[in-house]
Amino acid sequence: MKTNILKNLIPALVLTGMTFLYACGGSGSASSGDSTSTATADIDPAAKSDSKGLGRFTSVQIGPIDPAMAEKGQVVFAAKCAACHKTTDQKIVGPGLKGVTERRTPEWIMNQITNPAEMEQKDPVGKALLAKHLTQMTFQNVTDDESRQILEYLRKNDSK
Ligand code: HEC
Repeated sequence: MKTNILKNLIPALVLTGMTFLYACGGSGSASSGDSTSTATADIDPAAKSDSKGLGRFTSVQIGPIDPAMAEKGQVVFAAKCAACHKTTDQKIVGPGLKGVTERRTPEWIMNQITNPAEMEQKDPVGKALLAKHLTQMTFQNVTDDESRQILEYLRKNDSK
């Protein structure tokens, strides 16, 4: 009998403990969010930045817009990005991507596409974007080639 009570009690205690920890973690991260927003308070996530961001892409060569590459990028974008992003100024889940190639470097954009988790946590612009949109962008299993094609599509979108 006693052991039965214990058996029932222990998971309940564990659950309470976890809820407690979760609540503390929640408020803890909210307050560390405050300190991050202090660190990024001077960064307007809509403003132009020269940063290359964090990730594998440190040097991306761009030339005149390649229409065939942009077309491939459009197909990938429709499948993997359009649920959260429009190519206008309008926000859905994530920011509208009109003008993104004017406010970000090619490297930053490709790092954001292939390495969003680190960008949101460590890159000053990425942190400011997360603080503004309050949703994490998740990696969409795009290859490096596909992210380059998407970049071309976004460049074409901005050239219109
Ligand atoms: C689940 C929704 C979601 C999906 C899918 C998604 N994103 Fe995002 N994206 C976001 C959110 C939210 C932000 C802003 C917060 C952040 O950066 O984490 C963002 C930010 C961005 C930015 C930075 C915009 C700026 O103003 O600097 C770019 C570029 C971007 N996404 C491109 C893409 C591309 C390309 C894809 C497809 C491969 C994609 N995203 C898929 C939600 C998403």
